[in-house]
Parts: sequence; structure tokens; C-alpha cells
Amino acid sequence: MEDARPQMRTMGHVALHYPGKEAGPLAARLLNVIGFVETQKLPLPDGDFYRFVVDERHSKRGDGIIYLSTVPAAQAALIAAAREALGHGTPQAHPAIAGLRAALDGDPEYSFHVGALLDSLEELERVTLALQALEDSDPAFKGRLSIIVNRPRPGDADIDARLDASPVFGGVTRFAYGRNGVQVFVETDLLSSGPLGESMVLELDYVFPGKDSHILSVVEL
Ligand SMILES: [Fe+2]
Repeated sequence: MEDARPQMRTMGHVALHYPGKEAGPLAARLLNVIGFVETQKLPLPDGDFYRFVVDERHSKRGDGIIYLSTVPAAQAALIAAAREALGHGTPQAHPAIAGLRAALDGDPEYSFHVGALLDSLEELERVTLALQALEDSDPAFKGRLSIIVNRPRPGDADIDARLDASPVFGGVTRFAYGRNGVQVFVETDLLSSGPLGESMVLELDYVFPGKDSHILSVVEL
């Protein structure tokens, strides 16, 4: 008999990796500071395996999940071989390495990244200030977090005024690819991604209510 319920699909999970056992607790703490909820920590020889959910309401569900574990051995071996072959970290490094770095510095969305949506601008501001404080004042995170902020192009007087008065978004001159929303990017080497496993970007977004066209609904260049 056919199921009469309307079908629904959601994003289920993403599996992130930290680059070696010692980075595990710091990567997990970073996800905690962002506000993701740790629901499981499974000790493993190469580093703990974590299950996070983006929101408490996903704790028992099969979606909204972020798994976090160490870079698997075969992947770590390939990254090491690729880095060696390209002279990574040496004066003779292949120029393509600096090329990708420059592209990421210009636009944190240039390469693989994962975005989470918050429904409170105040919460996004609180999290962003907490991340900035962590980078500024905690030696374990010093130099390991890079935070970049985008606001929408000016045009909506209420939104512009709200963001001008914000401790996070006031004075920001970087703009999103769209309207009516803001983006906070956190690049960290506590997570491994990209061709040489160097870092990963997490994106945190907020969309102003009541707008059909916003940064996540329509891409505008
Ligand atoms: Fe993005």
C-alpha cells in the first residue's frame, strides 16, 4: 500500500576530520563554542569519535548531524605524500599552493565548506564574539582561527541600521553574494579539508525574516 504521507528529505550529516589525535579535543571545543551540541564521544585509539547535532532538537534524529573524527590513516598518508611531492612548507613549494591560499583569502566560500543557519542574529553575534575572544585570549586557539564576516549590500534601511549598530557587523565592508542576510566564516586548521588537508571553513548564517530574496535563496554577483 502506498504511503500517503508527503515525502521529505533533509540534509543528514557531514563527516569532518581533525588532523591528528591532539587536535581532537580542540576541534570538539570549537564546535561546542559555535553552539553545536555534543551527543556522543567514543574513545578510539587514533582519537575520539564525536557526534554533534546542529541543534538540540536533532539529538535523537537522523539529520542535522556533524560527525567528527581523526583523519583516517590512508587519507593522512596521501596528504603527507602530496605535501612532500609539492614541496609544501618549503621555499620551493609548488605555486599552486599559494594560488589556492590567495583565492581562499579573497573568498572563504571558494572551496569546500559547510554552512549552518541560525535563526537569531543576537545568537550569531554572541557566538562570533566568543570565537574572537577564544582566538584572542586562549593560547590553545591562538593563530588557529580566522574569522571573516560578510554583510548584505546596503539597500534595506532597517537592516543597514541594525548592522551598523552591531558589535560584529558594524564597519564591515565585505559583502555577501545576495541580500538580507549575514555570514560569519571560521577557517581553522583544527579541521582538515582541501587537497592538502590544511584547514576547513565553517560558515554561520542568519537571514532576516520575511524576505523571499536573501543570501541563501538567490545568489547575486
Ligand atoms: Fe557558503
